[in-house]
Amino acid sequence: MGEKLVLAYSGGLDTSVLIKYLQERNNAQVITVTVDVGQQEDLMGAAEKAKKLGVFKHYHIDAKDEFVTNYIFPAIKANGLYEGKYPISTALSRPLIAKKMVEIAEKEGATGLVHGCTGRGNDQVRFDITLGSLAPDMKIIAPVRDWGLTREEEIEYAKTKGIPVSTAAKMFSIDASVWGRAIECGLLEDASQEPPAEAYLWTVAAEKAPDKPEYVTIQFEAGVPVAVNGKKMKPLDIIQTVNEIAGKNGVGRIDHIEDRLVGIKSREVYECPAATVILEAHKDLEKMVMTRNEVLFKAQVDAQWVFLAYAGLWVDPLKDDLDAFINKSQENVTGEVRLKLFKGGLQVVGRSSPMSLYDKNLANYNIKTSFNQSYSKGFIELWGLQTRMYNALKQSTTKKRKPTKKA
Ligand code: ARG
Repeated sequence: MGEKLVLAYSGGLDTSVLIKYLQERNNAQVITVTVDVGQQEDLMGAAEKAKKLGVFKHYHIDAKDEFVTNYIFPAIKANGLYEGKYPISTALSRPLIAKKMVEIAEKEGATGLVHGCTGRGNDQVRFDITLGSLAPDMKIIAPVRDWGLTREEEIEYAKTKGIPVSTAAKMFSIDASVWGRAIECGLLEDASQEPPAEAYLWTVAAEKAPDKPEYVTIQFEAGVPVAVNGKKMKPLDIIQTVNEIAGKNGVGRIDHIEDRLVGIKSREVYECPAATVILEAHKDLEKMVMTRNEVLFKAQVDAQWVFLAYAGLWVDPLKDDLDAFINKSQENVTGEVRLKLFKGGLQVVGRSSPMSLYDKNLANYNIKTSFNQSYSKGFIELWGLQTRMYNALKQSTTKKRKPTKKA
């Protein structure tokens, strides 16, 4: 028997075809790995399918808790939205799947790691860099990209190998984790058209949402959610609960033009109900407990962090450095945020914190507060000093330069 190869397996057409290709072309003993990150797909069906296709071994790994605690929570602390919109729900799962592949490959004495990504997207970057960093001595094989497999070839090949191909050609290409669902391809490639109703599974259309608003309260401790509506829950349950509440109110649909790493602009459609609510709440709470300088500086760190996570650099040392800063910054991010969800809309309507820097007594318009207004005059004098100097100079020089009227 040939070498052992570990394949990240989803149960879909691409990776099912890869099992057979690797067995035939490489004479390999294929070990499949399916990692449950909360994608809510038929992973047991995938296990059955892998066994039917004659894999050497199949691993099903439930990594949901690890995914929430070690991947989603850091993204919450970093207010992780790529290009201001996308909660990086797919991007976050890739380094975890890669880590599991490497663990299994080491245990099984495999010589290579295989993924089914194409050469056009971001996922190839995330897998290759993480796998190559964690297992520098193993080879990485990306057959769809490197052997140039086309979908038509795959379907033909699948038929000859008895791999079931769903006759109803799949409308979309889907990737999901508990942090959100990405929907691509098919009709969605026309960026001018509204996505059809069938694209969505976790959220209802705004017009089909209940006619009454629903309120939800998220409680945070040191930057991470710990309770929903006053009920303490374990991390995974929090995300799932908020997914449900937001989804049924039509909150969390995202449709934007996204810049992929390889330069392609793509039209991306997501539904990320829990992420949309929790990120909004977290950012609001930060503004209550952090100083102005912290708020403004951290926004730059957050942008850099989310770019690294999106761009496949999860295991880059800069990301660790930024994590150190971000973790320290979360010490006081404790409190509650109340949000109103109504027909696809989301609004923060209240917040409170034992660490609040908001002081009602300072902020109110009553003349008798502890804020001494008489200091403001001198402050403005110095604050605007250079601005006034510059404008005075500009006025005097333009006056001097005024053209004299010709006689
Ligand atoms: N554009 C998103 C990202 O790069 C979603 C990718 C979805 N992946 C997929 N294989 N369908 O994170």
